[in-house]
Amino acid sequence: MSLTSSSPTPRGRRRVRASVAAVATVGLAATGVIAFSGTARAADTLGAAAAESGRYFGTAIGPHLLGEADYAATLNQEFNSVVAENDMKWDATEPSQGQFNFSGGDRLVEHAQSQGMEVRGHTLVWHAQQPGWVQGLTGDSLRQAMLDHIDGVAGHFAGQIDSWDVVNEAFEWDGSRRQSNLQQQLGDGWIEEAFRAADAADPDATLCYNDYGTDGINAKSDGIYRMVEDFLARGVPIDCVGFQSHLDSNSDLSSYQQNLQRFADLGVEVQITELDIGGSGSAQANAYRTVTEACVAVQGCAGITIWGFTDKYSWRADDTPLLFDTNYQKKEAYGAVLDALNAAAPAGDGDQEDGTASSYLPAAWREGTSTHRAT
Ligand code: XIL
Repeated sequence: MSLTSSSPTPRGRRRVRASVAAVATVGLAATGVIAFSGTARAADTLGAAAAESGRYFGTAIGPHLLGEADYAATLNQEFNSVVAENDMKWDATEPSQGQFNFSGGDRLVEHAQSQGMEVRGHTLVWHAQQPGWVQGLTGDSLRQAMLDHIDGVAGHFAGQIDSWDVVNEAFEWDGSRRQSNLQQQLGDGWIEEAFRAADAADPDATLCYNDYGTDGINAKSDGIYRMVEDFLARGVPIDCVGFQSHLDSNSDLSSYQQNLQRFADLGVEVQITELDIGGSGSAQANAYRTVTEACVAVQGCAGITIWGFTDKYSWRADDTPLLFDTNYQKKEAYGAVLDALNAAAPAGDGDQEDGTASSYLPAAWREGTSTHRAT
């Protein structure tokens, strides 16, 4: 999509989300649902519950684990969106310059499509998990390598990815740019160059900036807010901000919802992209509830992805931050999330008080041809 106007232009698509609706409906019928008294629309899986308000509920996965029966069964039962925990990163997809390897990513996409799940893409450009050959590049060689990487990966998966994390973790705590090789070699313009390249390679994907430590109104989220404001004013193709949300039970969530809301008010979609919360029991469950309630309270919050679903395979190996224990049993936090999703206002009442649809929503969403805000 070429940007011809300097005003924020809705871009992005929801092609896959139609199939999520179908699967959610089938899931509801197949499982009988209605686990909660009095609420006819209460669903009994995370994905189906999220779909009731036009949202997705996803998880990061390792495609190499899909052969484990309990892993695949839990994934297929509960989630309507997936993202690769590692398999679409630069080191995995372009281990040698110009030599692309899409085996893990293709396997993930194939599985998602067979289950009617959405797919998030993570991540095109990041200072971490770069292959060794990238780290040695300088100046225009690095710029060209970045652009070729985006073209190669986003081009390969074009039409199959709902949202791409185009750029990951480019800000410091104080709101300034992280002094990565990309920042130092390419200068301030590298982030918008990455977004323009992603837009050219996959014009229909929702393009996200993604970061951690942005779980409230703080100096870091302020810096990102200013970047998004600037990008929208200048027509740089950004559609979305991802909030990783790697948290602990005692994390300060007092301005979490307000922070999501201020980004949504700018005219971008917001997504919770890598949620996991250390701890256990009701403290952990309450924090999960707070985050889920915040997303469903913000009209522009499209969905939540947790960073793995079983404590058996969490990247936080010394903690138990996920919704299923190591034996795939539902934890207290699972119930808190499901309740909060089921308590959300149903899709279809998302229009603004003046009767117009929110300006950032893609046409398919506004017109009800997507599960998002379907009328
Ligand atoms: C992590 C994976 O979970 C680990 O398996 C890997 O060893 C390192 O990366 N922020 C991100 C994710 O954006 O890509 C990271 O994933 C976790 C922090």
